[in-house]
Amino acid sequence: MMLPLRSRREPRVNQASSAGLPLDGKRVILGVTGGIAAYKSIEVCRRLIDAGAHVVPVLTDAALHMVGETTFRALASEPPKTSLWTDPDPIPHTSLGQHCDAIVVCPATARILSDLCTGRSGDLLSATLIATEAPVIVCPAMHTEMWEHAAVQHNIATLSARGVIVVPPEEGRLAGGDVGNGRLADPVVVVDAVLAAIGPIAGVLNGCRVVVSAGGTREPIDPVRYLANRSTGRQGHAIADAAHRAGASVTLVTTSPLRSAPGVDRIDVDTAAQLYQAIAEASADADVIVMAAAVADFTPATVAEDKIKKGAGAPELKLVPTVDILAALGERKAQGAIHALLVGFAAETEDLDVNARSKLADKRADLIIANDVAAAGVGFAHETNAVTVFGRDGMELALSIRSKDEIARELCVLIAQRLSVPADTTRHQ
Ligand code: CTP
Repeated sequence: MMLPLRSRREPRVNQASSAGLPLDGKRVILGVTGGIAAYKSIEVCRRLIDAGAHVVPVLTDAALHMVGETTFRALASEPPKTSLWTDPDPIPHTSLGQHCDAIVVCPATARILSDLCTGRSGDLLSATLIATEAPVIVCPAMHTEMWEHAAVQHNIATLSARGVIVVPPEEGRLAGGDVGNGRLADPVVVVDAVLAAIGPIAGVLNGCRVVVSAGGTREPIDPVRYLANRSTGRQGHAIADAAHRAGASVTLVTTSPLRSAPGVDRIDVDTAAQLYQAIAEASADADVIVMAAAVADFTPATVAEDKIKKGAGAPELKLVPTVDILAALGERKAQGAIHALLVGFAAETEDLDVNARSKLADKRADLIIANDVAAAGVGFAHETNAVTVFGRDGMELALSIRSKDEIARELCVLIAQRLSVPADTTRHQ
C-alpha cells in the first residue's frame, strides 16, 4: 500500500504556533541519496523550511557527486551531515534518529530502499533510518527498469507493510532522455506527504469522506459570455487540501483552475446545475460536505445559440433561480437520505451575524463560516481571510485575519471535533 499517507505514530492535533506555519517546531531529516533527481531535493529543502520545519540534511557519498554541500549549507537549518565518522558527535546516527519528527529520503535510490529493507547500516543515512521511531517517508526515483524490477517492488511492498510512507514516482522524462515511470514526485507532493505525516492536523480526519465545492459558477448567456462572480476558489481548495492532509478521502467539485493536492479526487464544473449534479452524486456516502463555492443564485432562462450581436440593441436577460444546493442537502439530511455534517459559507457585506444565523437555520446547515467580504484582506481574491464560525449548537468562534491555509486547518480541526473521529481509526474500511 503506498497511499493514503499515514503516520506510524499516534496522530496528534497540534495547533500551529503563533507564526502559523504548519511545520513550526518540527525537526525533519532530509536524506539525500545519489540519484540524478538529487537536485530536486534542494527545492524540497526550501519548501520544508518555508513550511516552518527545522531541516537537517544528511547526504550520502553518492549524493555528493550530484549536489554540493555548500548549497545545503546555505539553505538548510544546519550544515549537512555526510559521514558516520567525521561528526563531532561520536554516535551521530542515534542522535539524529532519536531527535527528529520525520525523515524524508528524497530521492531514494534502489540501494537505500534495499538497505532500509534489510536493516543494513553502511553509512550515516542508512544507520539513522534504522535508529529512528519517527515516520519515514521515501521518495523513490530511478529508471523504469529499475523501479519495475521484482527486487525493488518487493522492497517497496515490505517497507509499505512496515509503515514506511512511500511517495511513488511519476511518469515522465528521466535522465538520459528516456521517458517512463520512475521520475521523482513533484517537490510539492513530497512536502505534502510530510505535512500529512506530521503536520498540525495529521490524522484528524482519518477515514472520513469529505466533499468540498469551490470557486464561482459561470452561467452562460451565449457561446462567449457568462454571468460570474469574484470567487477564485482559493479558500475551498485550501480546505480540500487540508482535509486530504488530515487523512480524509476528498472529492473537490470546483470551477477554479487552481491546483489541488494530488490525491484529491477532483471534478471540474462550470455552472450551478453541473455543480449541483456533482455534489448530489458525491454526497451519498459523505461524512462532511463543505459548500465553499459561490454558487450563482440566478441563471439565464435561455442560452443564445449564437453570439448576441450588439447591433440588435441591449438584450434583456431573463433570469431564473438556481437550486440552493446547501438548502437541498439540508432537506435531504432532514429526511434521513444523507448523514453528512453540512458546512456552508456566508459571504456578507452587512449584518454578518444576523445573515449568517438565518442561513444556518434556513439551509439547515451544521456550521456556517461567515466572512465580511467588504473588509480589507478578507474573502474573494485575497490570500488571507477572517471568518466567524456559527454552529447549529450555538457555537460562535471568530478566527481573526490569517492565511486561507490556516483557516482551512482550523476548520478541519473543528469539523473533526464535531465528527468525534477517534484519532487512529477509520470510519470507512
Ligand atoms: N449556496 C448554494 N446554492 C446556491 C447558493 C448558495 O449551495 N444556489 C450555498 C453557498 O455555497 C454557501 C451558502 O449557500 O455555502 C451561502 O451562500 P451565499 O452566497 O452567502 O448566500 P445565498 O444563499 O446565495 O444568499 P444571499 O445571496 O441572499 O446572501
